[in-house]
Amino acid sequence: MGCRVVVLLSGRGSNLQALLERIERHDINAEVVGVISNRPGAGGLAIAHAAGVTTACIDHREHADRVSFERMLSATIDALEPDLLLLAGFMRILTPAFVCHYRARLLNIHPSLLPAHRGLDTHAKALARGDRIHGASVHVVTPELDAGPVIAQVVVPVMAGDDPPSLAARVQQGEHLLYPTVLAWYAEGRLELSDVAVRLDGEVLTASGTRFALDDLSAFPTRCNALRDTLSLNDSSEVP
Ligand code: GRF
Repeated sequence: MGCRVVVLLSGRGSNLQALLERIERHDINAEVVGVISNRPGAGGLAIAHAAGVTTACIDHREHADRVSFERMLSATIDALEPDLLLLAGFMRILTPAFVCHYRARLLNIHPSLLPAHRGLDTHAKALARGDRIHGASVHVVTPELDAGPVIAQVVVPVMAGDDPPSLAARVQQGEHLLYPTVLAWYAEGRLELSDVAVRLDGEVLTASGTRFALDDLSAFPTRCNALRDTLSLNDSSEVP
């Protein structure tokens, strides 16, 4: 029996799709046991449904307040008995009480090289600042927004002529490789998560986690396991 995963999302679900494809190919010893959305029309619900995954929609607009919404969300999640909870484009701020309930088993994928560009509109912010590199981060969720320890990042170049959609598309290519890589590590028992630090294979990761260039991740999973030992990107803000 693989690692039991519940995915929370609000949108189209391309990261969910990437995770399901890797699991289907037996690249990851995990099972998505439920997908929960706060938006009834989320594309991710249709993807889950097509894959035969249990779905639930808990519409936040039908709840008087955040606490009542989260109470129902937690009850639905807990009934699925997940080992790990993955946020994949879940567009609700979570209360500290909710985050603490899932301490060390709640991850998020964020479209920037954290700690740069927390919050929304990350691609526009990267372009406005003139960043030469951009990317995505998978991190442990803690009560402070987008501030938990980073597990891994994928770095993409910012090209001349990029606009937010073109940059977002390049970052998403990386996301679709990065999240499955991190899930594979977790399912293999290689990650130790906490609110303050992450260990991979017993070693404490640096603030940027394990950094990959986009090309490095495309040979998932065999190369990505070996790559972290050979890459020297961890302490660099430049990428080849
Ligand atoms: C991703 O870009 C992720 O970084 C952000 O939300 C987006 C979700 O995209 N947190 P999708 O729904 O998986 O296509």
